Amino acid sequence: HKNAMTGRSVLVCCVFVVLPSISFVLAYENLALNKKAWQQHPYNNNDEVWGSERAVDGRYTDLTAAGGQCVISGVGQSTAEWRVDLGEVLSIHHIFIQYRTDNFTWDRNNAYTERFLGYSVYISNSTNKEDGVLCFKDTNYTRATIPNPTNITCITHGRFVIYYNNRTHRPYPAGYSANGAFNELCELEVHGCPTSGFYGEDCSLPCPQNCQEGHCDIVDGTCLGCVPGYTGATCDTGKRFMVRGYRGCQYYRQEIYTDITKWSIQQIFCVNKNIFLL
Ligand SMILES: *[C@@H]1O[C@H](CO)[C@@H](O)[C@H](O)[C@H]1NC(C)=O
Ligand SMILES: *[C@@H]1O[C@H](CO)[C@@H](O)[C@H](O)[C@H]1NC(C)=O
Ligand SMILES: *[C@@H]1O[C@H](CO)[C@@H](O)[C@H](O)[C@H]1NC(C)=O
Ligand SMILES: *[C@@H]1O[C@H](CO)[C@@H](O)[C@H](O)[C@H]1NC(C)=O
Ligand SMILES: *[C@@H]1O[C@H](CO)[C@@H](O)[C@H](O)[C@H]1NC(C)=O
Repeated sequence: HKNAMTGRSVLVCCVFVVLPSISFVLAYENLALNKKAWQQHPYNNNDEVWGSERAVDGRYTDLTAAGGQCVISGVGQSTAEWRVDLGEVLSIHHIFIQYRTDNFTWDRNNAYTERFLGYSVYISNSTNKEDGVLCFKDTNYTRATIPNPTNITCITHGRFVIYYNNRTHRPYPAGYSANGAFNELCELEVHGCPTSGFYGEDCSLPCPQNCQEGHCDIVDGTCLGCVPGYTGATCDTGKRFMVRGYRGCQYYRQEIYTDITKWSIQQIFCVNKNIFLL
């Protein structure tokens, strides 16, 4: 009896341990988590109270100011800017934003819809948003239609993700807050690959060998450019190139070969003499 009972409890234990590890889901990583953040106008000029890092603390269960999980910026400012520094140029897929709601239903009557309207999101390699790409700018939402939380797809390589809003040009569009621009970010997640040179939803696929700077599209792995001597979407096509003035070559031409295994880029082809030099 005793042995049979022990055997059964061992089996139960093992079934419980094995099952959860089978059902894992492919997903990009949150590259912004606990990274260095900054905001233009901290509340009361003190970024330790409702500071900029609260948007990258991984917490957004309490969407009130009192909960201490949200960034709160200074009152009565004409612009509001916030950014996170990923530390290096990384491959980004999308940005998730959870805006403050004060725990009330997100609809046209929520007091924070008027503050969220008109926001934009940039990815840049410098702290200047104008150096980067504009991922999204709201020009068309209303208090009733602006989504929160929201995902912004922005397939880009970059280091800084910048959130921006402004109340600079009166009259403002209908529904926009009249008392300034605010950050109010409870969470901003930057989803992508944590290591340069990989792609795919679990970031396990290496970018093609001859991609410029080793960078490729995070979804389909196509190169953003090729190292010299290669061409094609995945840079696996060798370019034949000529050395100007090479012994007796009067004419030369560039040709593209689809099979890199047959033609090395070191080959020199003299059109007039019709010879190959390896
Ligand atoms: C807001 O909601 C969260 C989650 O339900 C709760 O834990 C928190 O106490 C609420 N905050 C306030 C100030 O009511
Ligand atoms: C950042 O720099 C990389 C090159 O290192 C470039 O591929 C990328 O396009 C740049 N990103 C932006 C947003 O300018
Ligand atoms: C603007 O929003 C309206 C309704 O919300 C929608 O029907 C329209 O297609 C939108 N226009 C643009 C340019 O996104
Ligand atoms: C954002 O995208 C993630 C990953 O695709 C998804 O799990 C999540 O439900 C999306 N959230 C919203 C608000 O669309
Ligand atoms: C925000 O700034 C842009 C560009 O300067 C301007 O066109 C727009 O009217 C401004 N929006 C508000 C609400 O002030």
